[in-house]
Amino acid sequence: MSNLLVTGGAGFIGSNFVHYVIRETDLNVTVLDKLTYAGNRATLSSLPEERLSFVQGDIADATLVDRLVENTDVVVHYAAESHNDNSLHDPRPFVDTNILGTYTLLEAARRHDVRFHHISTDEVYGDLELDDPERFTESTPYNPSSPYSSTKAGSDLLVRAWVRSFGLRATISNCSNNYGPYQHVEKFIPRQITNVIDGVRPRLYGEGLNVRDWIHANDHSSAVLTILERGDVGETYLIGADGEQNNKAVIESILEIMGETTGAYDHVIDRSGHDLRYAIDSTKLRTALGWTPQYSDFRAGLEATVKWYRENEAWWRPQKAATEAKYQTTGQ
Ligand code: NAD
Ligand code: TYD
Repeated sequence: MSNLLVTGGAGFIGSNFVHYVIRETDLNVTVLDKLTYAGNRATLSSLPEERLSFVQGDIADATLVDRLVENTDVVVHYAAESHNDNSLHDPRPFVDTNILGTYTLLEAARRHDVRFHHISTDEVYGDLELDDPERFTESTPYNPSSPYSSTKAGSDLLVRAWVRSFGLRATISNCSNNYGPYQHVEKFIPRQITNVIDGVRPRLYGEGLNVRDWIHANDHSSAVLTILERGDVGETYLIGADGEQNNKAVIESILEIMGETTGAYDHVIDRSGHDLRYAIDSTKLRTALGWTPQYSDFRAGLEATVKWYRENEAWWRPQKAATEAKYQTTGQ
């Protein structure tokens, strides 16, 4: 393995992975990214040109995908429409990219017998009760709630079928909610941080008792690299860092870190079909492949993330007004 094709490498988690791989390995990377509203070429601009090439294009473009896959050793597939709220208002791009785009990549990987790693989410498993002692494992039945999570579930099932029916050398990882630098301001944590910077009160959906299992994007990257290096073909690995927090507590931490009073936020209309709780049991990845997360202190990671958004306003500012205008149409 010396050349990686990383789809969606100009988005939040894909770009963190590209930075990680360039920093930690000798691998060369080609990024294929459509540069939708969520992609930002500037995120990769500091990386060395001799190690990284960038192709703007659609993962559903079979001709382009075939040419790129033919010339790579491994496909690491991050590209997706990724925001639940958007999927509730316009599901079509989720079907096009998450299902048809993944299908297009799988067919190219099959034709050229290229190793494939599929990035997915714990949201394919649906949600848990707050007091459920069980967490998601690799054998939890699929039960997605939203157009986003159902199209991710569909893409996972395609990968499994290509492994079983065509012998594709593929692995899948399902990770919990990521935070860290370069996350789009539509998402929960950056939205609230940038609201506070703008003097706007954070917006909590419903009662805010929903729980997410937070992991730093760097830990997600190290887990994916571990799976590429040591994972068994055909296997699924859950990635999580024991970071359960409810949304109310996260907003209060952000306010506290940013020097505001902890009650200075507003409750807004809840998300339709809002999943209550996600929680990952990553025992398989830890025991079978020896992976451990490095960012186990969520509060310290959140402080670093607040600092990053304060220091990188030029990166997020161009997206902020349009994002908030979109939320205004739903009262959120
Ligand atoms: P993101 O929205 O920040 O980035 C997605 C990237 O994909 C963007 O750069 C976008 O331009 C690109 N893209 C979208 N459609 C494309 C297409 N048709 N062709 C080529 N490129 C296209 O998303 P993210 O949060 O970085 O998520 C990346 C992956 O990780 C997704 O597969 C998502 O399901 C998964 N995931 C995300 C989280 C999370 O907390 N954000 C958690 C677990 C898994
Ligand atoms: P989000 O970042 O959209 O990720 P996901 O839907 O994949 O979990 O949202 C994380 C949680 O935060 C989710 O429970 C919805 C909630 N949320 C708010 O309370 N306020 C907001 O402004 C946003 C964007 C999300």
